[in-house]
Amino acid sequence: MIITIGNQKGGVGKTTTALAMASILGRKGYKVLLIDLDAQGNASLATGVTSENIPSIVDVMRNEIEIQNAILHFNEYDLLASSKALSTLQNQLMEEMGREYKLKEVLEPVKNKYDYIIIDTPPHLSILTVNAFTCSDKVIIPALADIFSLQGIGQVFVSIDGVKQYTNNKIQVAGVLLTRYSDRATLSKDVRDLIGKYSSSQNTKLYTTIRENIAVKESQLEQKSLCDYRRATAAKDYEVFIEEFLEG
Ligand SMILES: Nc1ncnc2c1ncn2[C@@H]1O[C@H](COP(=O)(O)OP(=O)(O)OP(=O)(O)O)[C@@H](O)[C@H]1O
Ligand SMILES: [Mg+2]
Repeated sequence: MIITIGNQKGGVGKTTTALAMASILGRKGYKVLLIDLDAQGNASLATGVTSENIPSIVDVMRNEIEIQNAILHFNEYDLLASSKALSTLQNQLMEEMGREYKLKEVLEPVKNKYDYIIIDTPPHLSILTVNAFTCSDKVIIPALADIFSLQGIGQVFVSIDGVKQYTNNKIQVAGVLLTRYSDRATLSKDVRDLIGKYSSSQNTKLYTTIRENIAVKESQLEQKSLCDYRRATAAKDYEVFIEEFLEG
């Protein structure tokens, strides 16, 4: 199953969610590949990649290296690392025929070796995100419980409708996931209810909520898995989320 973590809004927990999913599913014994499709390279850095001089998704999408030779192996999951050159690749793709299908094509040889392929996407809608949607079975939309989130979530649904129509009619939004949630913000609950209603109107679910928790930043800074912070509230919340996700 290929899952894109998508929302063109920035800083909503896409990368954190992609990392937590990869790590928790990996620990459960599933074979997982995480693809960092964001030129910022946050998922690669948090996984432990510190050099730009390694094979990346860009080399693979340019057909300069076989995908099997670009995949890095870590304890919990495999990684196809990002590269700053993703922004150049984005422009190059615009000149190519079949540009929406490039990622789907290059994943073909390894697709069946993994139980889950998780794609972290950049905070803007580009041909790269369209490539992610085009090869995906499911989309998870992380969002903050703030008043502008509904617009962001709505935009993802609009993009998905376009993808359904033109490049991938089997794609489904698996659900919306509220992250960095704080009960102290009095409006949060109202916004959560609103997003819950909107999600059902779109025939998708609102998952459990991920609480704001300092352990998230600590784990990313120390390039450790959030699961190593056993008592961290966000780690527990992500465990619950994965159970809900696996229930389908
Ligand atoms: N539950 C949480 N508690 C505390 N901090 C969090 C939580 N989730 C994410 N963060 C922090 O919020 C910031 C944004 O999260 P993240 O990088 O996952 O978002 P993103 O959507 O991937 O951002 P971008 O759009 O820039 O790629 C990061 O500094 C991250 O450490
Ligand atoms: Mg990110």
